[in-house]
Amino acid sequence: MCGIVGFTGNSPAVPILIKGLYRLEYRGYDSAGVAAFTKEGLEVVKSRGRIANLEEKIKEIGGMNATCGIGHTRWATHGEPSDRNSHPHLGGRGKVAVVHNGIIENYMELRQQLEAHGYEFQSETDTETVAHLVDYLHDGSNHSLAMTVLKAVGMLRGSYALGVVSMDDPEEIVAARRDNPLVIGIGEGENMIASDVTAIISRTRKYIILDDGEVAVVRPDSVVVMNAFGDIVEKKIQEVTWDLSAAEKGGYEHFMIKEIMEQPAAVTNTIHPRVKDGKINFEDSGLTDERLKNAKHVHIIGCGSALHAGMVGRSVIESLCRVRSTASIASEFRYENPIIRPDDICIVISQSGETADTLAAMRLAKQAGAYTVAVVNVVSSTIAREADGVLYLWAGPEIAVATTKAYSAQLAALYLFAVKMANVRGTITEEQEKAYCETLYTIPEKISEMLAGKEKMQYLASRYANRSSVFFLGRGLDYAAAMEASLKLKEISYIHSEAYAAGELKHGTISLIEQGTLVVALATQPALYEKTISNIREVVSRGAEVILITGADFDCDASCCSHVIKLPEIRQEMSASLSIIPLQLLSYYVAVERNCDVDKPRNLAKSVTVE
Ligand code: AGP
Repeated sequence: MCGIVGFTGNSPAVPILIKGLYRLEYRGYDSAGVAAFTKEGLEVVKSRGRIANLEEKIKEIGGMNATCGIGHTRWATHGEPSDRNSHPHLGGRGKVAVVHNGIIENYMELRQQLEAHGYEFQSETDTETVAHLVDYLHDGSNHSLAMTVLKAVGMLRGSYALGVVSMDDPEEIVAARRDNPLVIGIGEGENMIASDVTAIISRTRKYIILDDGEVAVVRPDSVVVMNAFGDIVEKKIQEVTWDLSAAEKGGYEHFMIKEIMEQPAAVTNTIHPRVKDGKINFEDSGLTDERLKNAKHVHIIGCGSALHAGMVGRSVIESLCRVRSTASIASEFRYENPIIRPDDICIVISQSGETADTLAAMRLAKQAGAYTVAVVNVVSSTIAREADGVLYLWAGPEIAVATTKAYSAQLAALYLFAVKMANVRGTITEEQEKAYCETLYTIPEKISEMLAGKEKMQYLASRYANRSSVFFLGRGLDYAAAMEASLKLKEISYIHSEAYAAGELKHGTISLIEQGTLVVALATQPALYEKTISNIREVVSRGAEVILITGADFDCDASCCSHVIKLPEIRQEMSASLSIIPLQLLSYYVAVERNCDVDKPRNLAKSVTVE
């Protein structure tokens, strides 16, 4: 996905755009650019690489003196990262500029038609097609830019969040969206557009959320929103609830380590408002007892770490509630014609609430009549607003691309769901619900205990940072936890790693184990200790070095392991909240050892709002 920002007011626009782009850089960072109305007219400066390169280019031309403009930071979908593929893109005669987040699926047919009308394309992007289309439709028409944009987007297939400016009016920005987020920042004598509130919060805390199909006309002293028919619609002004410092590093070297250390607070924010006197209260989620009691199947969908949290949740839900539960990759679920019944509950997990595959999978489940409940961190995100019910994590803004505190908060939300559903269905007693709630209350302090061991993980990272591949093994919910641990390592350190069901390794993949191969084994389920330690011996006998993460009551002989890390006492259903902590730290310190860009790993973006 990409980041979009726009400003129109009475202050120098370009520094505000650049600052906004830095706050959006986690959404995509392979190139960046701005378009602004200067005395030269509609001026565009853009550059491959990080925003710092763009700043350099702007400095080289002596700056851009403007009070209105748009900016973009890119995660490439069409055309490699390059100057010419960077946004903004100019339409036809350079009178229109466009920034875009999303994918235009019919861009090639539109491009061919525009080329037939004499347009020459400078890039390989789908976005440039939109710029020329707006230019073509706006040419000579007495329509406003907004009406032209409305007409243009009606010809687009696919997803978009757009910022459009035209020489017609150097104070006006037109914004439009479908399936990609866009907010309008409401200031005093100035207004903004942005992909999310982190880019506007330094100017204003008030914002409007644009809905699919709407178009906004943004001027210094007014914001007018229209629906697809051009009718003006009233929009609710919302207020950002967290302060700017939450979206800053606060003295930490990286956002990731800051967010790792924030996990006790994040999990507390998820649990405490929903547990009172040993009872779980879901009033805010729309999940009624009746639904929980009648559900015959709990579908869980997500991508990446959200899916991994869902895999842990699935194990805990089936174990406590004795109801069929499945965790599915959202990009698979949406195309496999899944069996969904009206009584089903579909838990939709997404930190950003904007992931395209997860959004599409949720819409499919809704269409089939399932009750969808979003487990989401970003308030008022698309998934949160379209789901039937929502369980907000309240973990605070998560900036690092590799999720940590949101993952831990997702686990907590899923435990709450499992314990609540089990009590409603009578598979646990009131007393057991109370006991589980007491355990939930202890998770933050136990995470803190694990965080206290960060120096050990830093030491292990220095020992193992040069490995070319790592295996993560586990059985049951430890396998799900191993999936998350493996993703953490590979996505920020670029070391190839693989999570394997411990019992499955011997069916082929064990051939990859050789002298010195690093294996991280998770064994936190007492009934599976013996089995897992046998699997550990299998790999050690073939030369592997093993780091074992295990439960406090682990009493098997682990002398074959190079390192053993014991968790504090905790109910086995909730062990995943603790076993991931040392492995997040290990991944972080390995990435630092390898001088990787920890917060913005190559090829990645914080939320993938395209398919
Ligand atoms: C996890 O560290 C990654 N950033 C990625 O797998 C992420 O979890 C996935 O893209 C889902 O994002 P979401 O939670 O915002 O939907």
